[in-house]
Amino acid sequence: KPIQWYPGHMAKAKREVREKLKLIDVVIELVDARIPLSSRNPMIDEIVGDKPRLLLLNKIDMADQTETKRWKKFFEGPGKMALEVDCQSGQGLNKIAPACRELMKEKHDKLKAKGVNPRAIRVLILGIPNVGKSTLINRLAKKNIAVTGDKPGVTKKQQWIKVGDELDLLDTPGILWPKFEDQDVGSRLAATGAIKETLFDFQEVVVFILKYMKDRYPERLKERYKLEEIPDDVIELFDEIGRKRGCLVGGGYIDYDKAAELILRDLRSLKLGGISFETVQDVN
Ligand code: G4P
Repeated sequence: KPIQWYPGHMAKAKREVREKLKLIDVVIELVDARIPLSSRNPMIDEIVGDKPRLLLLNKIDMADQTETKRWKKFFEGPGKMALEVDCQSGQGLNKIAPACRELMKEKHDKLKAKGVNPRAIRVLILGIPNVGKSTLINRLAKKNIAVTGDKPGVTKKQQWIKVGDELDLLDTPGILWPKFEDQDVGSRLAATGAIKETLFDFQEVVVFILKYMKDRYPERLKERYKLEEIPDDVIELFDEIGRKRGCLVGGGYIDYDKAAELILRDLRSLKLGGISFETVQDVN
């Protein structure tokens, strides 16, 4: 379900999210824990304004745990909370309701002081395509609901889903676009599967992945591909992996398509371990 974002779509998506926000107490922003900045919308702060916000670092099963912990600290601050979650397995999701309660505490305490019993907290799930919004909604709803296709402007009657006693969840997520102007952001989105393989040259993406891993995770490459040394040149590295894994065409030449596919498959199936393609150290 690849999406093409055009300026018109972006404007419409923004309008739709703003419209939904009127109904909402707490925004749950979903990002990919492997690329927490690149998987965010560039205008998110402006769009969400000062609504209480809970950031979920999702897909922690695929990320580097050490980096994810650093990111959690990075995003936390006064009135800002972040949680590490795996929406596929459900890990960490039991902390969502308590976090929302915490974010609403002051408001609710004021209401209670006036003798008013606060209603359930109304939440919206927000994020770029493929970060796991539908998976999360289905998990929280404890049933499969058809979450509206990944296209802004595909309208469906919105409904509230009760999540325990405390939360009312809007069943249509807010969908915003990533910041793909930046080439590196594009590569990171492709490496993590946020952009479908058919939309990019996957040999290029594999070169990006190998370049990054060569610097950050050389031991993982050595171990997986039985390499003694990591060549300085990334294409040489690509060649060597191809050769080691028997990705050859006639005449001893490397079959780059096959080698790229194999490396991507290894990455997706965690054979290279959890990898984060963006780190807090890079930002500071
Ligand atoms: P969206 O609504 O935000 O667009 O995302 P969606 O829930 O459709 O999730 C996108 C893909 O990410 C799905 O894979 C989903 O299973 C996977 N996913 C969601 N949460 C997690 C998580 O915590 N860990 C892991 N490992 N995967 C997660 P899919 O249906 O197989 O699609 P795809 O892999 O073909 O893109």
